[in-house]
Amino acid sequence: MRSFCIIASAFAFADCALAQTATERVIPTLPPQINALPSLTPTILDNSAPDAQDCPGYIASNVVENGHGLTADLTIAGANCQAFGNDIADLVLEVNYQAKERLNVRIYPKNIAPANSSWFILPSHIVDQPEWDGKTTAESSDLKFEWSNDPTFQFRVLRASNNEELFSTYGHVIVYEDQFLELVTNMVEDYNVYGLAENIHNFRLGNNHTQTFYAVDAGNSIDRNVYGVIPFYQETRYHDGTNTTSHGVYARNAHGQEWLLRESTIAYRTLGGSFDLYFLSGQNGNGGSSALTTIAQFQTGCIGTPAMQMYWTFGYHQARWGYENISVSQGVVDGYREANIPLECFWHDLDIYDLYRDFTNNDVTYPLPEFTQWIESLHENGQHYVPIIDSNIYVSNPKNESDTYAPYENGKNLQIFIRDPTTGDFYFGNNWPGFSVWGDWLIPSTQEWWTNEIVNWHKGTPFDGIWIDLSEAASFCAGSCGNGRLTENPVHPPFLLPGDPLTFDFNYPEGFNISNATEAASAAAASASQSSVLSASPILPAPTTTTQGRTEPTPGVRNLNYPPYVINNVQAGHALGKSSIVPNATHNDQYNTTEYEMHNLFGLQISNATYHALLELFPGRRPFTVGRSVFAGSGKTTSHWGGDNTSTWGSMFLSISQAFTMMMSGIPMFGADTCGFARNTDYQLCSRWMELSAFFPFYRNHNVKATIGQEAYRWSSVAESARRAMAVRYSMLTYMYTLFYYAHTKGETVMRALAWEFPNDATLRETYNQFLLGPSILVTPVLVPNTETVQGVFPGIGEGERWYDWYTLAEVQAQPQENVTLSAPLEHINVHVRGGSILALQQPRLTTRDTRNTPYSLLVVLDESGKAKGSLYLDDGESLEQNATCLVQFSFADSCLNFSSEGDYHASQPLANITITGLADPVNGNNTHQRRDWAHHGGPQHSSLQYGGTSCDTSTFDTSYDNGVLKVSGTEKYTEGGAFQKDLNLCFEW
Ligand SMILES: *[C@@H]1O[C@H](CO)[C@@H](O)[C@H](O)[C@H]1NC(C)=O
Ligand SMILES: *[C@@H]1O[C@H](CO)[C@@H](O)[C@H](O)[C@H]1NC(C)=O
Repeated sequence: MRSFCIIASAFAFADCALAQTATERVIPTLPPQINALPSLTPTILDNSAPDAQDCPGYIASNVVENGHGLTADLTIAGANCQAFGNDIADLVLEVNYQAKERLNVRIYPKNIAPANSSWFILPSHIVDQPEWDGKTTAESSDLKFEWSNDPTFQFRVLRASNNEELFSTYGHVIVYEDQFLELVTNMVEDYNVYGLAENIHNFRLGNNHTQTFYAVDAGNSIDRNVYGVIPFYQETRYHDGTNTTSHGVYARNAHGQEWLLRESTIAYRTLGGSFDLYFLSGQNGNGGSSALTTIAQFQTGCIGTPAMQMYWTFGYHQARWGYENISVSQGVVDGYREANIPLECFWHDLDIYDLYRDFTNNDVTYPLPEFTQWIESLHENGQHYVPIIDSNIYVSNPKNESDTYAPYENGKNLQIFIRDPTTGDFYFGNNWPGFSVWGDWLIPSTQEWWTNEIVNWHKGTPFDGIWIDLSEAASFCAGSCGNGRLTENPVHPPFLLPGDPLTFDFNYPEGFNISNATEAASAAAASASQSSVLSASPILPAPTTTTQGRTEPTPGVRNLNYPPYVINNVQAGHALGKSSIVPNATHNDQYNTTEYEMHNLFGLQISNATYHALLELFPGRRPFTVGRSVFAGSGKTTSHWGGDNTSTWGSMFLSISQAFTMMMSGIPMFGADTCGFARNTDYQLCSRWMELSAFFPFYRNHNVKATIGQEAYRWSSVAESARRAMAVRYSMLTYMYTLFYYAHTKGETVMRALAWEFPNDATLRETYNQFLLGPSILVTPVLVPNTETVQGVFPGIGEGERWYDWYTLAEVQAQPQENVTLSAPLEHINVHVRGGSILALQQPRLTTRDTRNTPYSLLVVLDESGKAKGSLYLDDGESLEQNATCLVQFSFADSCLNFSSEGDYHASQPLANITITGLADPVNGNNTHQRRDWAHHGGPQHSSLQYGGTSCDTSTFDTSYDNGVLKVSGTEKYTEGGAFQKDLNLCFEW
């Protein structure tokens, strides 16, 4: 959940104590001053800031070629310019043809004192550092590196096959200072760049966008920095529409940074570290290049492919902040069951805790052992349970003997918390429970401590996975504000929380005033009255802030808290320390590494630690963790949710582009808070959003406290939308799981942009109002209120692609690039299946366990030449290392369906039926050569089945044929031992 700073800042000062929830303790509020930091001008908006391109640049010398690249010295070519830091005169250049498809360019200081090494070098044990494969040479690479010293060092990267220039600093100087690095690449006209996650922005980033990277606790800030940092972009170039090319650039650097996408250049600026650039050719075996290949190369070659998830995690999840006690929680579970809506996993937010303290249980509302029994009752019903853990740890009041808090005391004994450099003591920030500390993941004993707390807590709270929040890491005050004040603990955060007096949220989605005018009017009136009461007698003080001018570089000194270059941090006043641990806080490692270097890595590290803690708790089982702040490589251990979005149509729409960037970043287990987190939702938005998220890998409804409830059963239309969309999702769970198998093993994407699957159609370059799930499923959601239709395109039509309605199996009739108007009543989401696909389906049930136990069926959807294929991955659904797996390959051609499988995993469910659609001539195609119009034959005259090499009598088959759709049932009898145990060959004669 978010900090609510923005809401709080709307209130003026008053000195009072706020009543606390649950235990009704009166808690003092922090004085507002400790939340105040000077207000800064972001450099990109500061006309008086120096232009770093006036710096002298570098000259290369001592160039040594080594067969797989080169090394050289780079020496500053003039006087220090001190643009935004102290220039570093002597650098090293290393160029490596690391793999056929990957070229690495590193530039780092020549003389790094050991004590300063963490300033510049990102350790490979924290973030993977790709290296040479031991065989690629300049000659065998897809890419080519060229450089020049005229007038100063500059370089470019070309595609070797045709000299296409992919990246070029020609015409620009390289700037390397202790707090500022800059490199500028020339871009082609009207370039198409994607990625640079995490952002809440259009899918195509455009030619006038600044992506700031600094992990932040600030809701879904549109076009600004958000929770995650994945400095990777993929570029697509449409040539004449036949040979679209793609490549990628990954800048391995964890510092605060900015990417300035401008008309003809991209400027990459960071507050430190080194240039460690990876250029990816995007080329597959046959010389062409594509976005999908580029994205796969980023994962397999640079950051690692995503963790495989447990099967049950693909079920539906319900969370909310504000489930007050066990019986309220049980009411939600009952509500889903009574409405016949699947509920796989129940989530708790901070409500379960005593005074917001991690690893506690609230004795009044969630007492043990009743709470333990309640969780076990979920398990008995095949359901699961996931609670929140915040990243901050409450610091006990040292003057209050009854206020001991073991997780803090245990960590204190091990001395494992981040420190305040001015006192040498721990860094005491502020978060929900009061003054707080944060684990220092750079020292090994922090893992032991974390594992211990999680394992102990599990004894009373037997969870199945962990939700890590506030991992930016967020602190609500400026600096080590608890220093000298710990006896005031617990303190209330310096802003109003939802549920505090006068915080009822009266905001509703766009269009609510049209669909529900009466309620909208009364909400507006109540909101106005709440505001006027608050402004007449404000509850909370507002901090007074000052304005600070630009800091100048000081020779020999780094200004960590106020670096000379000010990134456009979304927090009020833009200071790096605002709402987070300040940059000069130190770690306990040998270099006393500071938060300045580590800030963007906290989320990665706490998720990794949680992953390892879960492995200890459940040996051999795939850990399920969902984290808020992520970095490049996070997907190897964690899943991610979109953070604190709002109940608006715009927020729902942007969740699709956010999802695309997560697919590009190797974090496919992604989903947004369905129906919206902040603010009230309404039945229309919630219906549409329940439908949309049913096609996101991670499917969770979550809501803030002190707003109206939004569980799917609360409105009849939402309940119906949820039942219908979930029926589709649960039918194709094995398909989603198989996509994850390919994501995990090959870096394939799960949700896909239309542009990725149809690269030669330039009209799709910005499209994200529709998406694909894998290669085969096209989803066309309704993203605006008050409508019963939706428009969408059917890509590939005109080049022979065929699309079929999921529900009716009828083929879509459309023109190339036509924006087709589709019927979309409130409870209906348009789903289409691509010709050429074979999907293994099961019957939707209320849990994934029960769904998994139903018989299989096959859906065969023919392409223009009457063919189709597909695959299915099966395993036990939870083991990290599988004893046995099974990969089934399906194909249909020449009127015959075939499948065969590899591997020893045994799925015992039989094959109940087979449906084949597309047997009629393609409705759009002009290409009907070699096709028979099977429709004229009224269905097959004859069928023959070989199962496991043995001919079977098919006379008991029940077949029906209508309008190009053939349905065959009665196959159970042959496949009782498990549908895919034996090879199948089923042929039809017409
Ligand atoms: C680029 O974006 C900025 C900030 O939104 C805007 O002020 C400016 O007009 C834009 N420039 C162009 C060329 O569109
Ligand atoms: C794409 O095709 C066009 C026309 O055949 C050709 O001129 C161009 O060089 C090609 N571009 C690339 C990058 O292959």
